[in-house]
Amino acid sequence: MRSAVVTGASTGIGRACALLLHSKGWMVFAGVRRAEDGDALRQAASDRLHPLPLDVTAPEQIRAAAARVAAAVGQSGLDALVNNAGIAVAGPLEFVPPAELARQLEVNVIGQVAVTQPFIPLLRQARGRIVNMGSVSGLVSLPFMGPYSASKFALEAITDALRLELTPWGIGVIIVEPGTIATPIWDKSGAAADLLAAAYPPEAQTLYGGTFAALRERVVAAGKRGLPPERVAAVVLEALTAERPRTRYVVAPAAPPCA
Ligand SMILES: NC(=O)c1ccc[n+]([C@@H]2O[C@H](COP(=O)([O-])OP(=O)(O)OC[C@H]3O[C@@H](n4cnc5c(N)ncnc54)[C@H](OP(=O)(O)O)[C@@H]3O)[C@@H](O)[C@H]2O)c1
Repeated sequence: MRSAVVTGASTGIGRACALLLHSKGWMVFAGVRRAEDGDALRQAASDRLHPLPLDVTAPEQIRAAAARVAAAVGQSGLDALVNNAGIAVAGPLEFVPPAELARQLEVNVIGQVAVTQPFIPLLRQARGRIVNMGSVSGLVSLPFMGPYSASKFALEAITDALRLELTPWGIGVIIVEPGTIATPIWDKSGAAADLLAAAYPPEAQTLYGGTFAALRERVVAAGKRGLPPERVAAVVLEALTAERPRTRYVVAPAAPPCA
């Protein structure tokens, strides 16, 4: 039986990945921050799906998660690590508090590496694969998405370096780059951006308020019309099982044909 760890599996893309891998017969360790999210996943699956308490910014939880997975998989090692957990911090860079920028990078960049490190020996045993959840925001940066884009650009760099470093052991390192996917991240990040904006000095509203509000509305509306998370999960499965996986996969609607 193949085994996978999926971080950020409570909702959205991570949940879809955990359930798809489970449905294909994998043993899945689904990273969650709340016990009730683990229970809900378990109910949607079977006892082959193991909820794993895992905040990617909590070193103790990371250590405990790796130890638990190591004990469960034994000499077979781990076939897949899907680094999916993520948040989106949005706002004008002139006013985004540095602590928020740090939080963005802590979760989406440092957390991914911190989780990956203790799982590498298990992946080495199985000649497994790592899939990092990037974004098209890691290829093109949009206004007010600076913190998020910075994190996803960084993840591109980390993915490429890690791939080269782990080549001697046959560990594939792949980045999946979704476009707009309909998940709770849009409402969460919109609400978080509003909270942040409420604490900005008055000139922030004068300088950026109009454009930020217009863009926020468009982005959140586009999020609701996005592709279903299952589309990304299908690509993650392909990245994990293809004989010769690509190094990066964009997941976005096909462009209309040129006139
Ligand atoms: N939706 C899109 O359009 C889109 C496009 C490109 C890339 N992505 C990427 O896809 C990934 C999943 O996002 P999503 O759209 O599926 O959003 P989502 O439904 O909000 O899922 C995010 C997941 O990350 C978890 N998470 C947040 N902070 C965490 C932390 N410190 N430690 C562990 N888990 C944490 C969340 O857990 P809680 O429920 O506990 O908060 C949740 O399970 C992210 O990396 C995101 O950047 C999304």
